[in-house]
Amino acid sequence: MHKRYHLTTFGCQMNAHDSERMKGMLESLGYAESASRDQADLILFNTCSIRERADNRFLAHLGEAARLKREQPERVVGIGGCWAQSVKGEIFARFPFVDVAFGPGQVHKLAEFLTSDSLTAQGYFEFEEFTGRLPGKRERDFQAWVQISVGCNCVCSYCIVPSTRGREVSRPSAELVAEVRQLADDGVREVTLLGQNVNSYGRDLHRPERITFAELLRQIDAVDGIERIRYTSPHPKDMREDVVRAHAELPSLCQHIHLPLQSGSSAVLKRMRRTYNRERYLDRVSLIREHVPDCAITTDIIAGFPGETAEDFAQTLYVAEQVGYDGAFTFAYSPRRGTEAASLPDQVPHEVKVQRLELLVEVIQRHAHERAQRFVGRELDVLVEGPSRTDPGRLRGRTTHNKVVNFDGLAAPGELVGVDITGATSQTLSGHESILSRAA
Ligand code: 5AD
Ligand code: SF4
Repeated sequence: MHKRYHLTTFGCQMNAHDSERMKGMLESLGYAESASRDQADLILFNTCSIRERADNRFLAHLGEAARLKREQPERVVGIGGCWAQSVKGEIFARFPFVDVAFGPGQVHKLAEFLTSDSLTAQGYFEFEEFTGRLPGKRERDFQAWVQISVGCNCVCSYCIVPSTRGREVSRPSAELVAEVRQLADDGVREVTLLGQNVNSYGRDLHRPERITFAELLRQIDAVDGIERIRYTSPHPKDMREDVVRAHAELPSLCQHIHLPLQSGSSAVLKRMRRTYNRERYLDRVSLIREHVPDCAITTDIIAGFPGETAEDFAQTLYVAEQVGYDGAFTFAYSPRRGTEAASLPDQVPHEVKVQRLELLVEVIQRHAHERAQRFVGRELDVLVEGPSRTDPGRLRGRTTHNKVVNFDGLAAPGELVGVDITGATSQTLSGHESILSRAA
């Protein structure tokens, strides 16, 4: 009988990627995936620590793992990822039933632990190896994550990531291009390049490996079979003209840029240590609009950062109005331990954060809805992902703008098909496969 594992993933796309690698590694050790936690010999969590809510969600699940371990003490409970990294050694004192804990740069150590005879709990927290080099198990055959770097050299005062994922380290470009070629040979059509700050890629490398992010995009675009390239997340400070132009010039680079704003107030941005101000951010947006007029622009915004006044927040609304985002992730500021902002004076009361979020969401939604109308009446290429979540009789896919489309059609997952867009809300588009209207 194979041993069985159950893995629960929290957090961002980097964690989704790391989990695919954990699964690949476990399967190469002979483990099989279990659909339920209570059937598993190995219960794993890949955790996130970005906001307090992420911590709380995870702790609720951990309670169940504790119960299952009590019932069957030979079960192994493992915790990986950013939350594990942020509390490190405390894990075993607070949660004595945990057998193994590891940070994001230590996924490979899980294999070492499982294959050793060690009976004592182990924690591994020093960055050592790119998770991207481990064997993978992809969620979908035609889409893949490619980890281009780990860590982050920024010092954004609200963010726990620099402390959980360490300094930025880029993977050599030749290795990345070879990996993408291999993926293309394997049937992958869309790759998403991942890093905490993708567009500062390469600055830590030495010649001849040292290339810019724009050049990396160019080399990956040249790989046969790769039809779509996405990346996340870039930092506005590093959004140079060469990267913007690449969106106009490279056929496979998607017409979508996620450009985290965080705040529209230059004073708040300064206290966030974002190293750009409102004007510079808006400048980047103009550059994108100039070179790639149809490009979708999305963002992340935090409401209620310490010291944010009504006037500061009005500036955020103003930028949101001015840019007219295609979509946004909005967050209430959540103090994270060990970060500079957590100890700033003038923390904003919860009710004020909630009120501001509501106002912000209204502006974001209104523009997202308006912006989406430009697609109605057009035929867009859609990469089919599978059945629609709302109506299994229809299909679901994404446009180059990263818009979800629910549509009538006959195409198979992984196919790139033309879809006539007939309707648009702030979140999704709808339509039908063009071939159907041509046949009629
Ligand atoms: N509180 C609220 N939002 C945060 N983010 C990061 N740290 C915090 C925090 N402490 C948001 C940022 C980032 C996104 C991934 O999460 O907007 O871009
Ligand atoms: Fe991802 Fe940040 Fe959460 Fe870590 S803390 S999983 S890097 S969002």
